[in-house]
Amino acid sequence: MNELTLEQKEKLFADITATADTAIRESKIQLSDPMLNLSDMEFFNKYVKDVRWHPLQNHGLEEFHTPFHLETADQDFPGQVNAYLDLLHEIPTTPAKILDVGCGWGRGVDILRKYYKVDVHGIDIQQPFIDYANKTYPGNKYFTDVDITDYNVLLFMDSMHLMFSHKFINSIAQGTLLVVSDFFTPDTLEEFKNMIQIERFECVLEKDQTDAVMKAIVRDIDTLKARFKHIDKHIVNAYKHIQLNTLHQFKIGHTKQYKFVIKT
Ligand SMILES: C[S@@+](CC[C@H](N)C(=O)[O-])C[C@H]1O[C@@H](n2cnc3c(N)ncnc32)[C@H](O)[C@@H]1O
Repeated sequence: MNELTLEQKEKLFADITATADTAIRESKIQLSDPMLNLSDMEFFNKYVKDVRWHPLQNHGLEEFHTPFHLETADQDFPGQVNAYLDLLHEIPTTPAKILDVGCGWGRGVDILRKYYKVDVHGIDIQQPFIDYANKTYPGNKYFTDVDITDYNVLLFMDSMHLMFSHKFINSIAQGTLLVVSDFFTPDTLEEFKNMIQIERFECVLEKDQTDAVMKAIVRDIDTLKARFKHIDKHIVNAYKHIQLNTLHQFKIGHTKQYKFVIKT
């Protein structure tokens, strides 16, 4: 599959999204592994960088319990924006220094600063993402390298895999709060919990968010066309395919979304 050219991938996506939406939503067919995902540099270069929209890379959360009313500008991706707001729900945010680890294209940092009025920075391994974030959200700070001991709350929004790095985990200062929301297979969930135990971290919260994420994806897909009339349909379709595929993984029980709050 990796040997497909970009054109072949696009054709495949176009075929799948044109013919199989209903079947996928009803889990009657099984998709192959996604060949594009929202962290993919190809997706960024082709469908984000120069396009007049600001997608996030998480898949959304349809469970609104933060007190915020979203500004009109943030109603373009309500589920995804809400997923970020949910990270700091009931977390003490002052005088916290917060780092969004794997901040991607940077919108999550901007959302948290805007609504919670917190001191939050972003880090991502991809320099092009960080350049885009700094350009798009100039009031914020995004880096490719930081000293994580400068922060006492670390956020992992769909970037939990970073916690499996020994180097990374060993450099986290004691007393740091880790807030994680990500999809887990049964295996990765077990490994994750083992790692928490081995590191003697304290799990303050464990919450299954699968239903709320699935509902958000369904709403996202169903309202895409209406929300993004001004965006080329191939771009919207590529994004839609990723959401459909993610939904499928949840529907067949391959993955579940969990939120963890962990004290180191
Ligand atoms: C699924 S995306 C989530 C992005 C963002 N949190 C959001 O929800 O919109 C995961 C991000 O982690 C970043 N990433 C992967 N490995 C990393 C590493 N070693 N250090 C920092 N960021 C990394 C990827 O570049 C990608 O932007």
